[in-house]
Amino acid sequence: MSAAAPWAAHFGLARTPFGKSIPAKDLFVRQAHAEAVARINFCVVESALGVITGDVGAGKTVSVRAAVDALDRTRHQIIYIANPAFGTRGLYVTIVRALGAEPRYLKAELMAQAADLLAAETAERHRRVVLICDEAHLLAPAQLEELRLLTNSEMDSASPFAGILIGQPTLNRQLRMGVFAALDQRIATRFTIKAMDIGESAAYLRHHLALAGRDEPLFADDAIARLHRASGGLPRALNNAATAAIIAAAADNKDLVDDTCAKKAVAELTRD
Ligand SMILES: Nc1ncnc2c1ncn2[C@@H]1O[C@H](COP(=O)(O)OP(=O)(O)O)[C@@H](O)[C@H]1O
Ligand SMILES: [Mg+2]
Repeated sequence: MSAAAPWAAHFGLARTPFGKSIPAKDLFVRQAHAEAVARINFCVVESALGVITGDVGAGKTVSVRAAVDALDRTRHQIIYIANPAFGTRGLYVTIVRALGAEPRYLKAELMAQAADLLAAETAERHRRVVLICDEAHLLAPAQLEELRLLTNSEMDSASPFAGILIGQPTLNRQLRMGVFAALDQRIATRFTIKAMDIGESAAYLRHHLALAGRDEPLFADDAIARLHRASGGLPRALNNAATAAIIAAAADNKDLVDDTCAKKAVAELTRD
């Protein structure tokens, strides 16, 4: 975390709060976050397929980061796909490259190569492959089919890797569609990260302020209620709303972020 911006220093904060690059150990552990992490761990341990969904900014990617951060890297090979919108060769190419090989040119060979490498990782290197696809609602039908083929490669034995699909709520609908029923049936766990309730939003704000070095309250209760409503309880939106409200309060030389500041912040963020 970097030094405090002037508006943060105004309130005696040692660092700028609500920064994007929050270390995994500093994350706010609410119920939904802990449960998402637990589901991801379940998939890793069982070499199973799991789906985590949630609205934009709900905390999906940070939950993956928290889960992955805790894994022993000598025993796990993590393949993290931040965005799968890279065409149909892309999935296998990414897997093959991540496992240290040069992708074969022909599609049919590439698929076999990916499957062989996945199997070898477990059998020879005794490392479990954890394939994580973020923004998985962007997976094209052909890519979902590729994924299905990979999980199928050893029909009767355990899946050769743990697979975690992270995406917006539409992902569940995509997976339920007839063509993907075979993949859908292989999904061992599903979880939706819901938005925070008002109590969680208040605790979330306190948590971030404490990280920035302030333990005393900064937001008035009605300001918290307004920021919570405006953000729909979604962490990323709440970060932005809270930041705008603190800036407004600093500009007005106040020593608390009151509802007038929250109102200004919300008006500013919703203006188009
Ligand atoms: N548990 C948490 N603790 C602290 N900050 C969080 C937490 N969850 C989300 N955030 C904040 O919200 C932002 C958006 O979360 P992210 O996981 O990227 O959302 P998603 O992947 O669901 O769109 C993060 O960059 C972080 O600043
Ligand atoms: Mg994300």
